[in-house]
Amino acid sequence: MRVLGIETSCDETGVALYDTDHGLLADALYSQVALHAEFGGVVPELASRDHTRKLLPLVDQVLAEAGLAKQALDAIAYTAGPGLVGALMVGACTAHGMARALNIPLLGVHHMEGHLLAPMLEAEPPAFPFVALLVSGGHTQLVDVRGLGDYRLLGESVDDAAGEAFDKVAKMLDLPYPGGPQVAALAERGDTTRFRFPRPMTDRPGLDFSFSGLKTHTLTTLRGLETDGALDDQARADVARAFEDAVVDTLVIKCRRALKASGRERLVVAGGVSANRRLRDGLDAALTKLGARAFYPRGRFCTDNGAMIAYAGACRLLAGERTATLQPRPRWPLAELTPPVA
Ligand code: KG4
Ligand code: ZN
Repeated sequence: MRVLGIETSCDETGVALYDTDHGLLADALYSQVALHAEFGGVVPELASRDHTRKLLPLVDQVLAEAGLAKQALDAIAYTAGPGLVGALMVGACTAHGMARALNIPLLGVHHMEGHLLAPMLEAEPPAFPFVALLVSGGHTQLVDVRGLGDYRLLGESVDDAAGEAFDKVAKMLDLPYPGGPQVAALAERGDTTRFRFPRPMTDRPGLDFSFSGLKTHTLTTLRGLETDGALDDQARADVARAFEDAVVDTLVIKCRRALKASGRERLVVAGGVSANRRLRDGLDAALTKLGARAFYPRGRFCTDNGAMIAYAGACRLLAGERTATLQPRPRWPLAELTPPVA
Protein backbone atom coordinates (compact mmCIF):
# COMPACT_ATOMS: atom_id res chain seq x y z
CA MET A 1 0.00 0.00 0.00
CA ARG A 2 1.42 3.39 -1.03
CA VAL A 3 0.46 6.08 1.46
CA LEU A 4 0.93 9.81 0.95
CA GLY A 5 1.59 11.57 4.27
CA ILE A 6 0.76 15.25 4.83
CA GLU A 7 1.90 17.27 7.87
CA THR A 8 0.73 20.87 8.38
CA SER A 9 0.07 21.15 12.12
CA CYS A 10 2.46 24.02 12.85
CA ASP A 11 5.29 25.68 10.93
CA GLU A 12 6.61 22.92 8.67
CA THR A 13 4.91 21.68 5.52
CA GLY A 14 5.89 18.01 5.29
CA VAL A 15 4.96 15.51 2.58
CA ALA A 16 6.19 11.94 2.17
CA LEU A 17 5.36 8.73 0.38
CA TYR A 18 5.54 5.50 2.37
CA ASP A 19 5.18 2.07 0.79
CA THR A 20 4.20 -0.67 3.25
CA ASP A 21 6.27 -3.17 1.24
CA HIS A 22 9.26 -1.05 0.25
CA GLY A 23 9.51 1.58 3.00
CA LEU A 24 9.94 5.30 2.51
CA LEU A 25 9.97 6.24 -1.19
CA ALA A 26 10.36 10.01 -0.95
CA ASP A 27 9.96 12.88 1.50
CA ALA A 28 10.07 16.64 1.27
CA LEU A 29 9.90 19.40 3.82
CA TYR A 30 9.40 23.13 3.65
CA SER A 31 10.22 24.95 6.87
CA GLN A 32 8.55 28.28 7.62
CA VAL A 33 11.24 29.24 10.14
CA ALA A 34 12.43 32.25 8.12
CA LEU A 35 8.84 33.50 7.74
CA HIS A 36 8.19 33.52 11.49
CA ALA A 37 11.70 34.49 12.64
CA GLU A 38 11.07 38.25 12.70
CA PHE A 39 8.06 37.72 15.02
CA GLY A 40 10.03 35.52 17.44
CA GLY A 41 7.50 32.68 17.15
CA VAL A 42 4.85 31.11 14.93
CA VAL A 43 2.14 33.48 13.65
CA PRO A 44 -0.82 31.12 13.05
CA GLU A 45 -2.45 33.05 10.18
CA LEU A 46 0.84 33.33 8.29
CA ALA A 47 1.47 29.63 8.88
CA SER A 48 -1.89 28.63 7.31
CA ARG A 49 -1.34 30.86 4.29
CA ASP A 50 2.13 29.49 3.70
CA HIS A 51 0.94 25.87 3.95
CA THR A 52 -1.63 26.75 1.26
CA ARG A 53 1.17 28.00 -1.00
CA LYS A 54 3.61 25.16 -0.41
CA LEU A 55 1.57 22.00 0.07
CA LEU A 56 0.56 21.09 -3.52
CA PRO A 57 4.01 21.83 -5.01
CA LEU A 58 5.51 19.56 -2.31
CA VAL A 59 3.03 16.79 -3.18
CA ASP A 60 4.10 17.07 -6.83
CA GLN A 61 7.76 17.07 -5.81
CA VAL A 62 7.40 13.90 -3.74
CA LEU A 63 5.51 12.09 -6.49
CA ALA A 64 8.13 13.15 -9.05
CA GLU A 65 10.94 11.97 -6.76
CA ALA A 66 9.24 8.58 -6.45
CA GLY A 67 8.54 8.51 -10.20
CA LEU A 68 4.84 7.97 -9.58
CA ALA A 69 1.60 9.57 -10.72
CA LYS A 70 -1.16 10.54 -8.25
CA GLN A 71 -3.15 7.59 -9.54
CA ALA A 72 -0.52 5.25 -8.04
CA LEU A 73 -1.48 6.31 -4.51
CA ASP A 74 -3.47 3.82 -2.45
CA ALA A 75 -4.31 6.06 0.51
CA ILE A 76 -3.68 9.45 2.10
CA ALA A 77 -2.74 10.18 5.72
CA TYR A 78 -2.72 13.70 7.15
CA THR A 79 -2.25 15.30 10.55
CA ALA A 80 -5.72 15.82 12.04
CA GLY A 81 -4.43 17.29 15.34
CA PRO A 82 -3.26 18.51 17.74
CA GLY A 83 -1.96 21.76 16.30
CA LEU A 84 -2.98 25.17 14.95
CA VAL A 85 -6.53 24.90 13.62
CA GLY A 86 -6.00 26.92 10.42
CA ALA A 87 -2.78 25.09 9.61
CA LEU A 88 -4.41 21.71 10.25
CA MET A 89 -7.33 22.74 8.03
CA VAL A 90 -5.04 23.23 5.03
CA GLY A 91 -3.72 19.66 5.29
CA ALA A 92 -7.14 18.19 6.06
CA CYS A 93 -8.89 19.93 3.12
CA THR A 94 -6.13 18.99 0.68
CA ALA A 95 -6.10 15.37 1.86
CA HIS A 96 -9.90 15.07 1.72
CA GLY A 97 -10.03 16.71 -1.72
CA MET A 98 -7.35 14.44 -3.16
CA ALA A 99 -8.82 11.29 -1.61
CA ARG A 100 -12.26 12.12 -3.02
CA ALA A 101 -10.86 12.83 -6.48
CA LEU A 102 -8.78 9.64 -6.50
CA ASN A 103 -11.42 7.60 -4.70
CA ILE A 104 -8.94 6.23 -2.16
CA PRO A 105 -9.12 5.83 1.65
CA LEU A 106 -8.10 8.53 4.06
CA LEU A 107 -6.79 8.68 7.60
CA GLY A 108 -6.45 11.60 10.05
CA VAL A 109 -3.32 10.98 12.16
CA HIS A 110 -2.58 12.18 15.70
CA HIS A 111 0.58 14.31 15.38
CA MET A 112 2.16 12.89 18.56
CA GLU A 113 1.46 9.32 17.46
CA GLY A 114 3.41 10.26 14.35
CA HIS A 115 6.36 11.44 16.47
CA LEU A 116 6.11 8.38 18.68
CA LEU A 117 6.31 5.98 15.73
CA ALA A 118 9.03 7.93 13.84
CA PRO A 119 11.86 5.61 15.07
CA MET A 120 10.03 2.76 13.27
CA LEU A 121 11.37 4.24 10.02
CA GLU A 122 14.95 3.44 11.07
CA ALA A 123 17.00 0.34 10.22
CA GLU A 124 16.60 -1.14 13.71
CA PRO A 125 13.07 -0.24 14.79
CA PRO A 126 12.05 -0.74 18.43
CA ALA A 127 9.64 -3.59 19.21
CA PHE A 128 6.54 -3.02 21.38
CA PRO A 129 6.22 -2.55 24.31
CA PHE A 130 8.32 0.47 25.20
CA VAL A 131 8.29 3.72 27.13
CA ALA A 132 8.19 6.85 24.97
CA LEU A 133 9.55 10.26 25.90
CA LEU A 134 7.82 12.80 23.68
CA VAL A 135 9.66 16.10 23.82
CA SER A 136 8.56 18.80 21.41
CA GLY A 137 7.65 22.47 21.38
CA GLY A 138 4.14 21.71 22.66
CA HIS A 139 4.52 18.48 24.63
CA THR A 140 6.69 16.81 27.26
CA GLN A 141 5.20 13.42 28.02
CA LEU A 142 6.23 9.98 29.21
CA VAL A 143 3.97 7.31 27.75
CA ASP A 144 3.81 3.57 28.28
CA VAL A 145 3.29 2.13 24.80
CA ARG A 146 1.95 -1.42 24.76
CA GLY A 147 1.13 -1.45 21.05
CA LEU A 148 -0.23 0.79 18.29
CA GLY A 149 -2.85 3.04 19.88
CA ASP A 150 -2.44 1.43 23.31
CA TYR A 151 -1.01 4.35 25.26
CA ARG A 152 -0.96 5.08 28.98
CA LEU A 153 0.22 8.51 30.07
CA LEU A 154 2.84 8.11 32.83
CA GLY A 155 3.67 11.78 33.29
CA GLU A 156 3.71 15.14 31.56
CA SER A 157 4.69 18.75 32.02
CA VAL A 158 2.40 20.69 34.32
CA ASP A 159 3.44 23.94 32.59
CA ASP A 160 5.89 24.62 29.73
CA ALA A 161 7.03 21.90 27.36
CA ALA A 162 10.80 21.28 27.20
CA GLY A 163 11.05 22.70 23.65
CA GLU A 164 9.00 25.74 24.68
CA ALA A 165 11.42 26.36 27.58
CA PHE A 166 14.35 26.13 25.14
CA ASP A 167 12.61 28.62 22.84
CA LYS A 168 11.89 31.07 25.68
CA VAL A 169 15.44 30.87 27.04
CA ALA A 170 16.69 31.50 23.50
CA LYS A 171 14.65 34.72 23.46
CA MET A 172 16.20 35.80 26.78
CA LEU A 173 19.61 35.22 25.20
CA ASP A 174 18.62 37.20 22.06
CA LEU A 175 18.92 34.09 19.91
CA PRO A 176 16.66 33.62 16.89
CA TYR A 177 13.60 31.36 16.76
CA PRO A 178 13.37 28.36 16.99
CA GLY A 179 15.68 28.47 19.95
CA GLY A 180 16.44 24.85 20.82
CA PRO A 181 19.29 24.26 18.37
CA GLN A 182 20.62 27.81 19.00
CA VAL A 183 20.76 27.37 22.78
CA ALA A 184 22.42 23.97 22.30
CA ALA A 185 25.05 25.48 19.99
CA LEU A 186 25.80 28.34 22.41
CA ALA A 187 25.97 25.87 25.31
CA GLU A 188 28.82 24.07 23.53
CA ARG A 189 31.13 26.89 24.60
CA GLY A 190 29.70 27.03 28.12
CA ASP A 191 31.49 26.11 31.33
CA THR A 192 29.55 23.35 33.15
CA THR A 193 30.91 24.29 36.55
CA ARG A 194 30.03 28.01 36.68
CA PHE A 195 26.29 27.70 37.45
CA ARG A 196 24.16 24.85 38.67
CA PHE A 197 20.46 25.25 37.91
CA PRO A 198 17.69 23.29 39.69
CA ARG A 199 16.42 19.93 38.36
CA PRO A 200 12.68 20.61 38.84
CA MET A 201 10.45 17.98 40.48
CA THR A 202 13.21 15.36 40.68
CA ASP A 203 13.32 15.44 44.50
CA ARG A 204 9.83 13.96 44.82
CA PRO A 205 8.25 10.80 43.45
CA GLY A 206 6.29 10.86 40.21
CA LEU A 207 6.88 11.33 36.52
CA ASP A 208 5.52 14.82 35.89
CA PHE A 209 7.71 17.69 34.73
CA SER A 210 7.76 21.44 35.29
CA PHE A 211 10.03 23.77 33.35
CA SER A 212 8.59 27.18 34.10
CA GLY A 213 10.57 27.65 37.37
CA LEU A 214 13.77 26.75 35.56
CA LYS A 215 12.95 29.38 32.94
CA THR A 216 12.48 32.01 35.68
CA HIS A 217 15.71 30.89 37.34
CA THR A 218 17.50 31.41 34.00
CA LEU A 219 16.01 34.90 33.63
CA THR A 220 16.95 35.86 37.19
CA THR A 221 20.53 34.67 36.63
CA LEU A 222 20.80 36.67 33.39
CA ARG A 223 19.42 39.81 35.08
CA GLY A 224 21.88 39.40 37.96
CA LEU A 225 24.79 39.14 35.53
CA GLU A 226 23.53 42.19 33.66
CA THR A 227 23.25 44.25 36.85
CA ASP A 228 26.82 43.29 37.72
CA GLY A 229 27.99 44.25 34.22
CA ALA A 230 29.15 40.65 33.75
CA LEU A 231 26.83 39.52 30.94
CA ASP A 232 29.52 38.91 28.32
CA ASP A 233 29.59 36.20 25.63
CA GLN A 234 31.16 33.64 27.94
CA ALA A 235 28.54 34.28 30.64
CA ARG A 236 25.73 33.80 28.10
CA ALA A 237 27.26 30.50 26.99
CA ASP A 238 27.66 29.40 30.63
CA VAL A 239 23.99 30.18 31.31
CA ALA A 240 22.91 28.31 28.15
CA ARG A 241 24.96 25.32 29.28
CA ALA A 242 23.56 25.38 32.84
CA PHE A 243 20.03 25.51 31.43
CA GLU A 244 20.62 22.70 28.92
CA ASP A 245 22.29 20.52 31.56
CA ALA A 246 19.34 21.04 33.91
CA VAL A 247 16.75 20.11 31.26
CA VAL A 248 18.75 17.10 30.10
CA ASP A 249 19.39 15.82 33.63
CA THR A 250 15.72 16.22 34.54
CA LEU A 251 14.58 14.30 31.45
CA VAL A 252 17.17 11.56 32.05
CA ILE A 253 16.17 11.14 35.72
CA LYS A 254 12.48 10.81 34.81
CA CYS A 255 13.13 8.39 31.94
CA ARG A 256 15.20 6.18 34.23
CA ARG A 257 12.39 6.27 36.77
CA ALA A 258 9.75 5.44 34.15
CA LEU A 259 11.74 2.46 32.86
CA LYS A 260 12.30 1.12 36.37
CA ALA A 261 8.64 1.54 37.34
CA SER A 262 7.27 -0.03 34.15
CA GLY A 263 9.90 -2.75 33.78
CA ARG A 264 10.30 -1.85 30.08
CA GLU A 265 13.69 -2.29 28.43
CA ARG A 266 13.23 0.06 25.49
CA LEU A 267 12.84 3.83 25.41
CA VAL A 268 11.68 5.71 22.33
CA VAL A 269 12.61 9.39 22.28
CA ALA A 270 10.89 11.59 19.72
CA GLY A 271 9.82 15.17 18.98
CA GLY A 272 12.01 18.19 18.20
CA VAL A 273 14.05 18.12 21.43
CA SER A 274 15.08 14.50 20.73
CA ALA A 275 17.54 16.01 18.23
CA ASN A 276 19.52 17.39 21.20
CA ARG A 277 22.96 15.78 21.31
CA ARG A 278 23.46 16.10 25.06
CA LEU A 279 20.06 14.56 25.74
CA ARG A 280 20.95 11.57 23.57
CA ASP A 281 24.36 11.14 25.22
CA GLY A 282 22.83 11.46 28.70
CA LEU A 283 20.08 8.94 27.97
CA ASP A 284 22.41 6.45 26.29
CA ALA A 285 24.78 6.50 29.29
CA ALA A 286 21.96 6.14 31.83
CA LEU A 287 20.19 3.38 29.90
CA THR A 288 23.35 1.33 29.41
CA LYS A 289 23.64 1.16 33.20
CA LEU A 290 20.04 -0.08 33.38
CA GLY A 291 20.54 -2.68 30.64
CA ALA A 292 18.00 -0.80 28.52
CA ARG A 293 18.25 0.82 25.08
CA ALA A 294 17.08 4.09 23.57
CA PHE A 295 15.71 4.48 20.02
CA TYR A 296 15.65 7.81 18.16
CA PRO A 297 14.46 8.99 14.77
CA ARG A 298 17.15 10.21 12.36
CA GLY A 299 17.87 13.95 12.75
CA ARG A 300 15.40 15.31 10.21
CA PHE A 301 12.57 13.10 11.48
CA CYS A 302 12.91 14.40 15.06
CA THR A 303 11.15 17.64 14.17
CA ASP A 304 7.87 17.76 12.25
CA ASN A 305 7.86 15.87 8.95
CA GLY A 306 5.57 14.06 6.53
CA ALA A 307 7.28 10.67 6.82
CA MET A 308 6.10 10.03 10.38
CA ILE A 309 2.53 10.89 9.36
CA ALA A 310 2.66 8.61 6.31
CA TYR A 311 4.01 5.80 8.49
CA ALA A 312 1.54 6.21 11.38
CA GLY A 313 -1.31 6.52 8.88
CA ALA A 314 -0.16 3.41 7.02
CA CYS A 315 -0.23 1.35 10.24
CA ARG A 316 -3.86 2.29 10.89
CA LEU A 317 -4.95 2.12 7.23
CA LEU A 318 -3.52 -1.40 6.93
CA ALA A 319 -5.63 -2.38 9.91
CA GLY A 320 -8.69 -1.09 8.07
CA GLU A 321 -9.19 2.22 9.90
CA ARG A 322 -10.64 5.17 7.94
CA THR A 323 -11.47 8.81 8.72
CA ALA A 324 -14.72 10.31 7.47
CA THR A 325 -14.79 13.71 9.16
CA LEU A 326 -12.97 16.75 7.82
CA GLN A 327 -13.01 18.46 11.21
CA PRO A 328 -9.46 18.80 12.62
CA ARG A 329 -8.82 18.36 16.35
CA PRO A 330 -6.59 21.23 17.55
CA ARG A 331 -6.70 19.75 21.08
CA TRP A 332 -6.51 15.99 21.19
CA PRO A 333 -5.01 14.13 24.18
CA LEU A 334 -2.81 11.22 23.07
CA ALA A 335 -4.30 8.93 25.73
CA GLU A 336 -7.69 9.19 23.95
CA LEU A 337 -6.32 7.14 21.07
CA THR A 338 -7.29 3.49 20.84
CA PRO A 339 -5.88 0.61 18.77
CA PRO A 340 -7.04 0.68 15.12
CA VAL A 341 -10.74 0.19 14.54
CA ALA A 342 -11.76 -1.19 11.16
O1 KG4 B 1 8.43 18.39 17.17
P1 KG4 B 1 8.68 19.80 16.77
O2 KG4 B 1 9.30 20.06 15.42
O3 KG4 B 1 7.38 20.65 16.77
C1 KG4 B 1 6.35 20.48 17.69
O4 KG4 B 1 5.53 19.56 17.48
O5 KG4 B 1 6.40 21.24 18.69
O6 KG4 B 1 9.59 20.44 17.93
C2 KG4 B 1 10.09 21.75 17.86
C3 KG4 B 1 10.78 22.06 19.18
C4 KG4 B 1 11.18 23.53 19.29
O7 KG4 B 1 10.80 23.98 20.58
C5 KG4 B 1 12.69 23.52 19.12
O8 KG4 B 1 13.34 24.58 19.78
C6 KG4 B 1 13.04 22.17 19.73
O9 KG4 B 1 12.02 21.30 19.28
N1 KG4 B 1 14.36 21.67 19.27
C7 KG4 B 1 15.43 21.49 20.09
C8 KG4 B 1 16.50 21.04 19.26
N2 KG4 B 1 16.03 20.95 17.98
C9 KG4 B 1 14.72 21.34 18.01
N3 KG4 B 1 15.59 21.69 21.40
C10 KG4 B 1 16.80 21.42 21.95
N4 KG4 B 1 17.87 21.00 21.23
C11 KG4 B 1 17.78 20.81 19.89
N5 KG4 B 1 18.84 20.38 19.21
ZN1 ZN C 1 5.79 17.98 16.37
